[in-house]
Amino acid sequence: SFRQQLPQGLKRLPGPWGYPLIGNLLELGSNPHLTLTRMSQEYGDVMQIRIGTRPVLVLSGLDTLKQALVKQAEDFMGRPDLYSFRFIADGQSLAFSTDSGEVWRARRKLAQSALKTFSVSPSPNSSSTCLLEEHVSKEADYLVGKFLQLMEEKKRFEPYRYVVVSVANVICAMCFGKRYSDEDQELLNIVNVTHEFTEVASSGNLADFIPVLQCLPSRTMKKFIEFNRRFLRLLQDMVKEHDVSFEKGSIRDITDSLIEQSQEKKVEANANIQLPKEKIVNLVNDLFGAGFDTVTTALSWSLMYLVSYPDVQKKIQEELDQTVGRERRPRLSDRPMLPYTEAFILEMFRHSTFMPFTIPHCTTKDTVLNGYYIPKDLCVFVNQWQVNHDEKLWKEPSAFNPERFLSAGGKEVDKAESEKVLAFGLGKRRCIGETIGRWEIFLFLTTLLQQLEFSVSNGEEVDMTPLYGLSMKHKRCEHFQAKQRLPRQSSE
Ligand code: HEM
Repeated sequence: SFRQQLPQGLKRLPGPWGYPLIGNLLELGSNPHLTLTRMSQEYGDVMQIRIGTRPVLVLSGLDTLKQALVKQAEDFMGRPDLYSFRFIADGQSLAFSTDSGEVWRARRKLAQSALKTFSVSPSPNSSSTCLLEEHVSKEADYLVGKFLQLMEEKKRFEPYRYVVVSVANVICAMCFGKRYSDEDQELLNIVNVTHEFTEVASSGNLADFIPVLQCLPSRTMKKFIEFNRRFLRLLQDMVKEHDVSFEKGSIRDITDSLIEQSQEKKVEANANIQLPKEKIVNLVNDLFGAGFDTVTTALSWSLMYLVSYPDVQKKIQEELDQTVGRERRPRLSDRPMLPYTEAFILEMFRHSTFMPFTIPHCTTKDTVLNGYYIPKDLCVFVNQWQVNHDEKLWKEPSAFNPERFLSAGGKEVDKAESEKVLAFGLGKRRCIGETIGRWEIFLFLTTLLQQLEFSVSNGEEVDMTPLYGLSMKHKRCEHFQAKQRLPRQSSE
């Protein structure tokens, strides 16, 4: 409570005054990342707000985030017990459940290792560098064909609906060794409504903080619960099929590899924990779920920027022509030679900050940050949007300008600048799919842009207003056009 004695020498958390019972609820509004960024300018990098009667710590500022999430990682690595998170993967999710102890640690390691084996590890019997390259190349080529076909049939199209199936098929191939048709209703019904998930799983979802709202009927909450149910069922069916056809010695995909792990009764070398079988196999839920919505959202924002900034699109294509040419497809190994493309992707991450907050954190013990006393079990919002738009870090943060990341006359990506962009979190809870996510975005984009030029129909405006959520989407745009690029003129 407010009158609680503070340990000596420590400061009380600053923050805005709040109303009884509702706290700062009314100020939060429909864009909490913008509101909390503005508030942090007044109260600082470490501040406390209240949503309902529940206090929340809001962290901003790159240095403060590094201090909390990296240097004091243990103190800030928990996940809060939020009402809506209990519905995700039956409360067993690696990313959203309250567990941050030995079991979480062991599961995270298993997930990381299974993911690596079936994505970026060298591929023994294929011409591709790795399975990820093979899958993405195939799906991106397919997408090029699809866009051209849609242009023939309808003269315009809405890209998200097709991008999401291609991206889902990449993670699907790695997890389940299977691909869906882009007319598969079961898959479409799920992948096309991820906003039903991301709206509720966002930082500041009111029902998580104001218990009375949990008892009132809510369309959004009902859809969220239904989404999670359908998602779980889809994945459980896949796992069942794998259980039946599983053969030791012929591990086909991530699910097989997790089943194999769950059968090995070996105890973790350094700890006395034995994971129950389900807690291993259901890691595939986290990998599949986290693996397609994020990458799809990133690609969709990329397409929006490309049609809004045609000069930027041209520059990427010129770079591709000079480095890769048209005779062969782009490969992962081309990435270091394409600094402008890399700068574009970085600027897309920074400018959109489509994950404005990480998944909420929670303190695991009483601690101190920047001289402020912070109690155990306090819910923590990590404001990535603030960092990516901080005027102390960026010149003209609201301008979309890939060049800000280039040095050496445009020949290199400035490493220090690129490391200021926050998109995957930091520290012990940082995303385990970062490498895969970045590779996928790179290879999808370069494969598309090598062959196609994107635009919107004459006179149509693209609406880039982000819709708040765990991952922010934009309004779907029905007016995309793509045309096959003209053969390169031989000037030499
Ligand atoms: C967690 C971003 C792709 C798997 C996270 C977090 C962020 C994030 C912000 C939360 C970090 C925190 O709470 O502090 C992204 C972005 C991606 C991406 C921007 C792509 C552009 C992926 C992919 C996978 C993945 C491809 C897996 C295939 C996970 C998992 C967690 C996570 C399992 C939970 C980690 C934990 O709680 O211990 N990601 N991610 N992500 N991500 Fe990603």
